[in-house]
Amino acid sequence: MVIDSPEKLYEYVSLRISQRRLGHCMRVKACIERIIGQYGEGGSIMRHGSLDAPCFLGLMHDSSREDSFESVLETCRKAGFELNSYELANPVLNHGYVASYKASLYCPDVPISWCKAIECHTLGSMDMGYLGAALYCADYLEEGRPFLTQDQRASFFREAQDLHQLFEKVFYARLEHSRSKYNTASPNQLAIEAALARGERLWPVQG
Ligand SMILES: [Fe+2]
Repeated sequence: MVIDSPEKLYEYVSLRISQRRLGHCMRVKACIERIIGQYGEGGSIMRHGSLDAPCFLGLMHDSSREDSFESVLETCRKAGFELNSYELANPVLNHGYVASYKASLYCPDVPISWCKAIECHTLGSMDMGYLGAALYCADYLEEGRPFLTQDQRASFFREAQDLHQLFEKVFYARLEHSRSKYNTASPNQLAIEAALARGERLWPVQG
């Protein structure tokens, strides 16, 4: 199988997840477009053949979200992802690794930055890059999320002057959620929290 067009991408994803989740994926795509429209492309690779980054990341990121935990862990093993104890204890968090692996498998020469963005959309990563941050934020801010009112969603966009500021706001909101749900945070989240506390940026400033 080769995914080399938006139609094939849509077909691949729609066969693997529910209509409800497909709706989420389409809204994430739209939200990435909004983020890029407001904050720019950050020097990212935006096209690959007939595929564009918002469509690919939005649709692909949760394409393995409904795989069984056994299958997710098995694919992570096969793909060579070394899971830490936090990830092993919470298999659902690893669907991004599987989706990233499948993206590289079925989409020839897909930009590494796209795979990386998909890989770390759940917990974030120090090397997630600009597109990774856009996906991470869109996953939280898309229009269908019931935990945000329209006013709250609008305030994220109104108060952030660039994607880094938007990412910080979303990161702390998601970190709080992780801590309340899992009683702890992942090593990736702790590394990002420490870096932000030191005032570091997670990707270079675009001139
Ligand atoms: Fe996800």
